[in-house]
Amino acid sequence: MKKFYPVVFLFFLTAVTLRSQSISLDKLDLSSMECGWGTPEADKSVEGNPLSIAGKKYEHGIGTHAVSTYLLNINGKGKRLVAEVGLDDEANNKGSVEFYVLGDKKVLWQSGIMKKGNEAKKIDISIAGIKKLGLLVTDAGDGIDYDHADWCDPVIELTENIHAAALINKIVNVPYILTPAESAKPKINGAGVFGVRPGHPFLYTIAATGERPMSFSAENLPDGLILNNNTGIITGKISREGDYVVTLIAKNNLGKAERKFIIKAGDKICLTPPMGWNSWNCWATSVDASKVEAAADAMVKTGLINHGWTYINIDDCWSIKPDSKDSLTMGTPRDKNGMINSNKKFPGMKALTGYVHSKGLKIGIYSSPGPLTCAGYTACYQHEYKDAEQFANWGFDYLKYDWCSYGNIAKDNSLPELEKPYMLMREALNKVDRDIVYSLCQYGMGDVWKWGSEVGGNLWRTTGDISDSWSSMAGIGFNQAGHEKYAGPGHWNDPDMLVVGLVGWGPELHPTRLTPDEQYTHISLWCLLSAPLLIGCDLNRIDKFTLSLLSNDEVIAVDQDPLGRQAERIYNKDGKQIWVKELTDGSKAVGLFYTGENSKSPSGYFMWNGKKRKSKIILTADELGISGKFKVRDIWRQKYLGVFINKFEALVPYHGVVLIKVSKAG
Ligand code: GLA
Repeated sequence: MKKFYPVVFLFFLTAVTLRSQSISLDKLDLSSMECGWGTPEADKSVEGNPLSIAGKKYEHGIGTHAVSTYLLNINGKGKRLVAEVGLDDEANNKGSVEFYVLGDKKVLWQSGIMKKGNEAKKIDISIAGIKKLGLLVTDAGDGIDYDHADWCDPVIELTENIHAAALINKIVNVPYILTPAESAKPKINGAGVFGVRPGHPFLYTIAATGERPMSFSAENLPDGLILNNNTGIITGKISREGDYVVTLIAKNNLGKAERKFIIKAGDKICLTPPMGWNSWNCWATSVDASKVEAAADAMVKTGLINHGWTYINIDDCWSIKPDSKDSLTMGTPRDKNGMINSNKKFPGMKALTGYVHSKGLKIGIYSSPGPLTCAGYTACYQHEYKDAEQFANWGFDYLKYDWCSYGNIAKDNSLPELEKPYMLMREALNKVDRDIVYSLCQYGMGDVWKWGSEVGGNLWRTTGDISDSWSSMAGIGFNQAGHEKYAGPGHWNDPDMLVVGLVGWGPELHPTRLTPDEQYTHISLWCLLSAPLLIGCDLNRIDKFTLSLLSNDEVIAVDQDPLGRQAERIYNKDGKQIWVKELTDGSKAVGLFYTGENSKSPSGYFMWNGKKRKSKIILTADELGISGKFKVRDIWRQKYLGVFINKFEALVPYHGVVLIKVSKAG
C-alpha cells in the first residue's frame, strides 16, 4: 500500500502537466521542428545561451534557426496563441528573419523583417477552429546566416484538454532506393580523363564494379607507368607531356569490360571535380589517424572506390594546438628546422599516407594561411614554403587552405589582400615534386569564383559551411546560379561537402536531417553543378540508402563529365527550378526541382497533410534548344522513359528532383 500514494501522485502530476488547457510550446517534443542550422533548444537559444531579444531575457521559449517550421495538430480545439518573437541577441548584424503563424495554410500573423536589436514582437491571436497550426521563421529573403530566432513564452490555450503528444505532427520519411543493383559483370566507372604533371608520382585506381576476383590490363599505357593486374592500381611517372589514349580492361568469370581513358600529362590536374571523403562533417575536432585509416578501409570495403571515389581528406585538428591543455594536441608546433609537427592523434603522417596510398586512394590535408586554423591549431603563416615541402614529403595529394585567422593578418578585404595568401601557397606548391590539388576555402569572399583560378586554385569554396538541413543545403545549392562561367576542367566552384549519412561534427553522430527527397536533390544538384563531391559521413556505418546515393554511376558521370560544364538555371518560378548541364556527348543533364518555397505563399514550407506533395514541372524542347523529338533517360533509375515531342512533364516530389538526360532523337 505504501507504494500506492507516490504512483497516484505521479499519475496526477503527469495528467496535470500533459493534459492542461494551456500548453507551453517549449515543453513539447521539438524533434519534428525543422531548424536551418543546429538543433532547436527548449528554454535556450539555438547556440545554448539564455534566450534574449533586444536585451530582454526569457526563461522559457524555443531557440531555433531559420528556416524553421513546426506544425502542430490543434484539431479545432485551440483558443489563442501567445508569444514574443525576435532575433536572438547572440546573432550578429547579418541576421534577419521573419516570423509567421499559419492556420490551415492561411497566414494568421506575420512579424515583418526582424533584425538584431529589434524589440520582441508580441503575438496574441485567436486560433479558434484551426486544425493545423504552423510556426514558421523564414530567412527574410537574404540567406540563413546568423538567423537565430526565438519564440519566447509561447503558449497555446485550448478549449479542452489535449494530450501534449497528440499535438505533434510527426512526418515519417521512408528512404527509397532508385539506384539499380550492381551487376556482377565487370563495368569500368569513374572519370574518363585524368591529368598529371610530367615527372610527378602517378596514382590512379581503375574504378570497376563486378564480382571479384577481377583482373585488369591496359593497352597503350604510357612509358613509366605500371599497372598491378590484381588491384587495378596504376603507379609510376610519365616523363613526357602529351595526351595518352589508353584502353582499360577489366575481366572476371562473367565477362570483360573495356573503356577508353585519356591521360593528359601537362600542367593541369583535377580535370574532373575531386571525389572523396573529408573528416570535418563527421568527426570535426575529434578526428585522429585511426578514424582516417578506417575511412580509407571503408572506402574499399563498401565498394565506393569502384565508383571513382578517391580522396581521404583530413580536415582541421591534426597539428599542434598552441594553447592546448590536452596531452594529445599540445606540444612544439615545429621542429628545429621549422618543419610543422603533427599532434599525437596523428603520430606518423608518412605511415598514414602510405597506408591510404596502398589502398589505391589519395590523401588530403588541411591548413590555413594564418598563424592558426579555424579550430586554433598551428597553420602556415610565414612557413608556407616549408609547409608545402612537408606536405609533399609526407605524401599528401590535396590541400584545403582555409582563411580563418588570416583575417587578422590581411590589411583589409581588398582583392589583392584576399588573393595574396593564396598566391603565396600556390608558389610554394609549385616548388614541390608532387601533384597537390589546391582547394581554397574562404567562403566566397571577394567573389572568389572570379579569381580562384587565376591564383592557381583547383577549387574554391563559394559559401559558408553547410549543415544537414534543407535551408542550409538548398540555400547554398540553389544559390550557385550564375557561377557556371567560372568552372571548368582544373578549376571548380565548391559549394561545400555532402551532408548525407551519419554526420554530426563529432564525436557524436546523427543521421542527416535531410529527408530522402532532399538527399536526392543534394546529390543531383551537386552533380549538375560539377561540384567537388566530398562525403562528410562516417563511412564505416553507412546504410544502404546512403550507399545507393553515392554509387549511382550515371549520376556520378554527370558530375565527372570531362567537358566540365557547370549547370545553368533556366527556370525559377513558384518553387520550381530547372537546371541544365551540357555533357560531352552532346546530350544534356537536366534537374527538375520542386523546392516548394515561394515568398508569395509561406504555406509552401509545410506538408499540411503529412504526405508528400508533388508538383508537375514541364520542360520544353525550346528551353533546351532542341527542336522536335527528344529522348529522355531517368538518370537515377537508369532507364529510358521514351521519346517526347516538344515537351516533357514530370511529377516532382516536394523538396525532391527528377534528374534526366535529354538527347535529340532520330
Ligand atoms: C571552416 C571550414 C570548414 C572546416 C572548419 C575547420 O569552418 O569552412 O569546412 O574546415 O573550418 O575548422
